[in-house]
Amino acid sequence: MKYTLLKNKLSRISAKIREGNLRRYLSFRLQRIIHNVNKYPNDIVIETASVCNLNCTICRSVKADLGRKNRFMSLALFKKIVDGIAPICNTIGVSYCGEPLLNKDIFNMIRYATDKGISVSMLTNGILLTAEARKGVLDSGLNFMAISMDGATKYTYESIRIGASFERLVENIGALIKERNQRRLSHPSVDLQMVVTQKNIHEINIFENLARDLGVDRAYLKSLHIDRTREDVEYVKNLETDYFVNSTALPSRYFVNKEGNIELKDKGLCPQKVRSPVITADGDVLPCCFDIFGEYVLGNVANQRFSDIWNSRKYFDFRYSMAMQRKLSMCSDCLPTNYKTINKIIF
Ligand SMILES: C[S@@+](CC[C@H](N)C(=O)[O-])C[C@H]1O[C@@H](n2cnc3c(N)ncnc32)[C@H](O)[C@@H]1O
Ligand code: SF4
Ligand code: SF4
Repeated sequence: MKYTLLKNKLSRISAKIREGNLRRYLSFRLQRIIHNVNKYPNDIVIETASVCNLNCTICRSVKADLGRKNRFMSLALFKKIVDGIAPICNTIGVSYCGEPLLNKDIFNMIRYATDKGISVSMLTNGILLTAEARKGVLDSGLNFMAISMDGATKYTYESIRIGASFERLVENIGALIKERNQRRLSHPSVDLQMVVTQKNIHEINIFENLARDLGVDRAYLKSLHIDRTREDVEYVKNLETDYFVNSTALPSRYFVNKEGNIELKDKGLCPQKVRSPVITADGDVLPCCFDIFGEYVLGNVANQRFSDIWNSRKYFDFRYSMAMQRKLSMCSDCLPTNYKTINKIIF
C-alpha cells in the first residue's frame, strides 16, 4: 500500500517535471523563433530598374504591369536606403524585376554602397555591357556579378532570351573578364548561369565548355520556376509543357506526383527567406522576392527608415506568422529549401 502511494506520488512528480521541461522546451523554441524573426536581414534586394531590354520567354516579371510608379530607382532614394541599412546589413543585390544596367546611375549607386563597406551583387542579362559599362562595373567596386545565359548556342539562347544577341553576350563577357584581369582586380567575381529547361538541356556540356573558355569564375545551373499563383494560364501551361524537365539529376523545385501533376518538393516554412526583403524602385519594402506585384507592402523607405519599418508591429507580425505557417497565395509556389536543390554548381 505504502509502495503504491509512493509510486503514484513519484509518477505525479515526474509528470510535473516532464510538463515543466516541455513548457521550458516550448518557450525556448518560441524564443528562438522570435530571435530569428527579429534579427536584421543578411541581405536586401534593391530594385534599381523594373523594366527590361529583353522579353525572355520564361520570365514572369516582364509579362505584366508590375504597377510601379517609377521604372527606375533614383540615386537620391538609393543613397537614402544605403545610409539607413549600412549599420545593420552588409550585403545587397541591385537586381529584381528588370535589368539593372538600364539605370543610368547604376555605377554611382554601386560605388556609393561599396564605399560604405557593403558588398554588392548584380544579376544581369549582360547585353548592355558595352566598353563604357564594363569600365563602370570595374570602377564601381562591384563584388559579384552573375550573368544569365539560358542557352549555349545562338539558336537556343536567342529563342529564349528574346531581343538578345548571342554573339554580343559572348563578346561582352570575354571582354569584361579580360579587362578585369588586365587591371589585376580581384572583383567582381563573374558567374555564368543557365536556367535548365527542355530547350537547353542538351547544351549543358557546351555551356560548361563555353564558360571555361570565357574564363568565368563559376558556372551553374538553376531550376526553372513556374509561378502558378496568378491567372496567367498561357504562361504557366507553356512552361509546364514546353520548358519543365522532370529529372532527379538536375536542380529542380518540383517533382511529378502520382497523378502526373508538377508539385513543389517541399512545402515547409520559410523563416530564412522571409528575412530577405526587397525594396522596389518606388521604395516599397516587400517581404521577399516572390511578391513581384507588391501585394504585401510593409512600409516605404522614402518616408521611413528601413530599421523602423523592420521593427514595426506590422512587419514583425508578418515575419512571425510566416515563421509559423505559410498561408499566402504567393507562398504556394515558393520552395523554402536549401541552395543545392535549386542550383547545381558545375565549377
Ligand atoms: C528576373 S531576372 C533579373 C536580372 C536580369 N535581367 C537577368 O536576366 O539576369 C533574374 C533571374 O531570373 C531568372 N529567371 C527568369 N525567369 C525565370 C523562371 N521562370 N525560372 C527561373 N529563373 C528565372 C533569369 O534567368 C535571371 O537569372
Ligand atoms: S533579361 Fe532578366 S528581367 Fe529581362 S526578361 Fe530576361 S529574365 Fe526577365
Ligand atoms: S513566398 Fe511565402 S513562403 Fe516564400 S519566402 Fe515569401 S513569404 Fe516566405
